[in-house]
Amino acid sequence: MSLKNGPRRVFNALPYPLQRILALLAGRAEITSFNPSYHQDWLATNHWGAYTADAKFQLAYKNAVRMGLAVDPKIEWRAHVACWAASNGAKLGGAFVECGVNRGFLSRIILDYLDTTPPSAFYLLDTFEGFSEAYLSETEAARLKQWQHESGRSGPWQRGMYDQCYEDAVKTFADHQQVRIIRGAVPETLPLVDADRIAYLSLDMNCAAPEIAALEYFWPKLVPGAYVVVDDYGWLGHEEQRDAYDAWATRNSVPLLSLPTGQCLFVKC
Ligand SMILES: C[S@@+](CC[C@H](N)C(=O)[O-])C[C@H]1O[C@@H](n2cnc3c(N)ncnc32)[C@H](O)[C@@H]1O
Repeated sequence: MSLKNGPRRVFNALPYPLQRILALLAGRAEITSFNPSYHQDWLATNHWGAYTADAKFQLAYKNAVRMGLAVDPKIEWRAHVACWAASNGAKLGGAFVECGVNRGFLSRIILDYLDTTPPSAFYLLDTFEGFSEAYLSETEAARLKQWQHESGRSGPWQRGMYDQCYEDAVKTFADHQQVRIIRGAVPETLPLVDADRIAYLSLDMNCAAPEIAALEYFWPKLVPGAYVVVDDYGWLGHEEQRDAYDAWATRNSVPLLSLPTGQCLFVKC
């Protein structure tokens, strides 16, 4: 016997604990509706997430949202993963690097989160105006052109969903001495990162070749125990990135951890 639409709607409107009691009384635990504790970023789950209890993280996250830095302001769990990897890096000593910065949402959260143990330097690399055609595959370029056509967005297709944001990024980090903003296309700008010891690497350029070039460049400079956080590894539509990382991981015998946030995490041994 199933609940028909009308009763189902009434049932779903009840507070969740009451739904549970009624369902248990009816011997029908399975009729309770799914009431996720986390529903952001295409992820709905009833897990308890450490980000909720981490008051310092909540403060840093809300501050960055308030500053208007987010491409997507509802990625709490993803941001907490980045903070966790960065706080590990802060203990190791060494510079931090993020490739794919935009207005600096993730990197600003990290710096506020680590306010008492900041990295010696945080290098932020981006064109600050979208993708570089020279480093896109045919498939990636075609996807961006199609996206522009469907979204009706004007401007060069290479800009994708991003705006010109260099000045915004400079403003975001005006109060952080250790931040070095490097403007231009990866991989061309990689040699401008003046650091031999890297303790945290974040790769978030949404295109395969520049991300793998950056990973190959920084891998020998990563200190043992440093984490690499890859933002879009698991997302549908990003298969080219995932395949490129999988091939890199096989070549280098590095196990990758695919996370439900869509990110991928691995450690330098
Ligand atoms: C998803 S956004 C980064 C979001 C950022 N991590 C944040 O916290 O908001 C991707 C960024 O990659 C940049 N990008 C794409 N291709 C690039 C390339 N070859 N070199 C440098 N930046 C690139 C874009 O300009 C864009 O700002």
